[in-house]
Amino acid sequence: MKISIVGCGYVGLVTGMGFAKLGHEVTFVDLDDRKIEAINSGKPPIFEKGIEELMEKNAGKYKATKNYESIKETDITFICVGTPSKEDGSIDLTFVRSAASETGRVLKEKDEFHVVVVKSTVIPGTTEEVVKPIIEKESGKEAFRDFGLALNPEFLREGKAVEDFFNPDRIVIGVKDERTREVLEELYSPFKCPKLITDIKTAEMIKYASNAFLATKISFANEIGNICKKLGIDVYEVFKGVGLDHRINPAFFRAGIGFGGSCLPKDVRALIAKAEELGEEPKILKAVIEVNERQPLRMIELLKRHISSLEGKTIGILGLAFKPDTDDVRESRAIPIVKKLLKEGAKVIAYDPKAMNNFSKIFPQIEYAGTGQEVIDRSDAVLIVTEWEEFEELNYRGKIVIDGRRIKKAREALVYEGVCW
Ligand SMILES: NC(=O)c1ccc[n+]([C@@H]2O[C@H](COP(=O)([O-])OP(=O)(O)OC[C@H]3O[C@@H](n4cnc5c(N)ncnc54)[C@H](O)[C@@H]3O)[C@@H](O)[C@H]2O)c1
Repeated sequence: MKISIVGCGYVGLVTGMGFAKLGHEVTFVDLDDRKIEAINSGKPPIFEKGIEELMEKNAGKYKATKNYESIKETDITFICVGTPSKEDGSIDLTFVRSAASETGRVLKEKDEFHVVVVKSTVIPGTTEEVVKPIIEKESGKEAFRDFGLALNPEFLREGKAVEDFFNPDRIVIGVKDERTREVLEELYSPFKCPKLITDIKTAEMIKYASNAFLATKISFANEIGNICKKLGIDVYEVFKGVGLDHRINPAFFRAGIGFGGSCLPKDVRALIAKAEELGEEPKILKAVIEVNERQPLRMIELLKRHISSLEGKTIGILGLAFKPDTDDVRESRAIPIVKKLLKEGAKVIAYDPKAMNNFSKIFPQIEYAGTGQEVIDRSDAVLIVTEWEEFEELNYRGKIVIDGRRIKKAREALVYEGVCW
């Protein structure tokens, strides 16, 4: 098939390159010149394991452009633009609206049936109440008759996105018309995982309920971890025992300093905002966010047990990405930590194998080191914020280390404090 991908971020790029590998012809559309140039020269505009190799091996099967017109030549368009939060936490649909209207304008000029698939995470109701009327207005056509419309949520994990594309736990397809359903069933036929076909609104909600549950597991683990710390119990042993229950599952129980990234925080907030708009009071979801906001600052409280005034002290930060194996710093727990340290008058020196460039756009005023060891050697105390594997190779001897992510080697420090253990 000929596939167009609108929005070449983490989701769009990986989805498009995955489909290219499966033999489809892929056209990427984005507004960002830097991304278009990078893709056309075979270089990934983001860091993601395995993506560069995928781009190399499938050269010739994809191209990138700023011109929406080229989606006319394709059979399916996936909308993969960002859906960030507004100030009040509700979903910001600016990019989705503009992608829908550009797509609609192109469809006006196309006679054949075309399928539009929303892959961006959107609050239940968005595809049929926002995207559909925009495309219909711009194209002068009728959805589910002249063009297909579907919602196909994405569950990939950054850092393992390529692996997840080819080995998903499940594929969820929200559809209304038979023709679109057939097109998507054919597209996804090489995947042998369970496939769930639902109506569009249900598919939208499956994505939010999944992310809300994962976020809840993390905040729950952190709350238990905080209690364990006071009781002198190792919370990792506890969750090993808990996770062995097949009804529970061991994933997402790594107690620490909470979740960040481009999905969990914003999706939980968007669901809270939608629930409130509907007159519901989502108590659990609110508590999940509250625990998550307090959790990183516990590192500073622990640090102050050992250095009471941070004024003029050099504090090292190991890890800036919201998790290892990505350069993404969106909602990274390093952000509130660095903000608080600067407020307390500390000097901050930081290192991350991939995310320093992105982080320096938010905090140009802190110092960035060439290696993790340099951070340790030059600091009065070190905070471990992201669990990069290479942090297991460093020498922590003689230092005060507050560990938010359970790096075993750091236990050799002069003073070692785990945030929940
Ligand atoms: N990143 C993840 O791990 C992940 C996982 C599952 C779902 N999602 C969801 O997928 C969506 C995309 O996430 P992402 O992380 O890939 O976002 P991203 O910010 O990395 O990429 C979005 C891209 O869309 C482009 N864009 C914006 N408006 C455009 C327009 N009108 N036309 C063409 N391009 C446009 C931007 O330039 C950018 O390159 C979001 O809704 C997100 O919640 C993300």
